[in-house]
Amino acid sequence: MNFAGKSVVVVGGTSGINRGIAEAFAAAGAKVAVASRSQEKVDDTVAALRVAGAEEAIGEVFDVRDHEAVASALKRFHQDFGEFDVLVSGAAGNFPALAAEMSVNAFKAVIDIDLMGTIHVMKGAYPYLKRPGASIINISAPQSYLPYEGQAHVCAAKAGVDQITRTLSMEWGMEGIRVNSVVPGFIEDTEGARRLAPTPQAGEQLRKDVPLGRWGTTKDVADACLFLSSDMASYVSGTVLAVDGALYQRGSGKFGQMMGDMLRAQVKA
Ligand code: COA
Ligand code: NAP
Repeated sequence: MNFAGKSVVVVGGTSGINRGIAEAFAAAGAKVAVASRSQEKVDDTVAALRVAGAEEAIGEVFDVRDHEAVASALKRFHQDFGEFDVLVSGAAGNFPALAAEMSVNAFKAVIDIDLMGTIHVMKGAYPYLKRPGASIINISAPQSYLPYEGQAHVCAAKAGVDQITRTLSMEWGMEGIRVNSVVPGFIEDTEGARRLAPTPQAGEQLRKDVPLGRWGTTKDVADACLFLSSDMASYVSGTVLAVDGALYQRGSGKFGQMMGDMLRAQVKA
């Protein structure tokens, strides 16, 4: 994959899966811009992107819940890089909590980051997307279509993200903009996985629930994003691409039940 001369923006690209995506585009020679809330994480990532081979690397600090800040930063990216060939929207927040036990504000925080954040990023980037040819990738999650106990907030938010993907693939497809979602399965050595499977037992149950019998890697997800943004996927739009070792086929499995049981035990204690 060669992305030399292409402009790539990865929102939430400063750790975990999204940073893996940003680094993969950098290694493929692209100009890469990243953004998140922490200046330290942005600076560290920009330095790493340069080492990885990016033609240029820049970063901005913002919270995706602040649509004006998002729009201003994307405008600055456009001033530096020109039209965006690739936009990846991946900022998210998660914690396991039963619906009856979490505050309304806790539910809303995840909706605001994952769902509202996605539309803030997509609308903020819209004026600067290359037409025809831009590829938008929203980073979703299995919770979009699998109900997990303790994840009502994330399930609601990510289902919304995928419906935005499907709807805007039609609205923006007319302009030659492709919109897809990538659904990572459970990805090793990431914050999301640490929060959902905090014990070795939970991690092992999770692995057993995956038909391919292993955790995913950040490279697995990054490879799918490179493909979706390449000419090889020029007729692929409106899809929700699971990169999950066939996890979906088995449903939320024993791991989902274990998470519900763990949370109920915490409530009783
Ligand atoms: N269980 C129940 N409620 C929780 C919680 C938990 N583990 N963690 C946070 N909350 C609640 C807070 O109590 C607060 O509700 P309140 O105002 O009624 O007290 C609400 O959620 C917002 O929390 P706050 O810490 O103020 O939000 P924040 O904006 O600083 O952080 C989070 C957002 C909570 C999502 C934080 O975990 C985060 O920044 N996550 C990013 C990293 C991440 O989640 N990575 C994995 C991605 S899959
Ligand atoms: P992560 O390391 O916590 O990455 C989240 C990124 O988003 C960070 O760069 C974080 O940086 C940024 N971010 C968080 N809240 C933000 C906000 N309000 N505004 C701006 N940026 C914000 O998590 P991860 O586990 O790799 O998850 C990455 C993505 O993959 C998420 O969309 C998640 O839902 C999805 N996913 C993960 C898994 C998994 O197994 N880990 C599985 C399925 C789906 P700052 O802290 O600096 O803001």
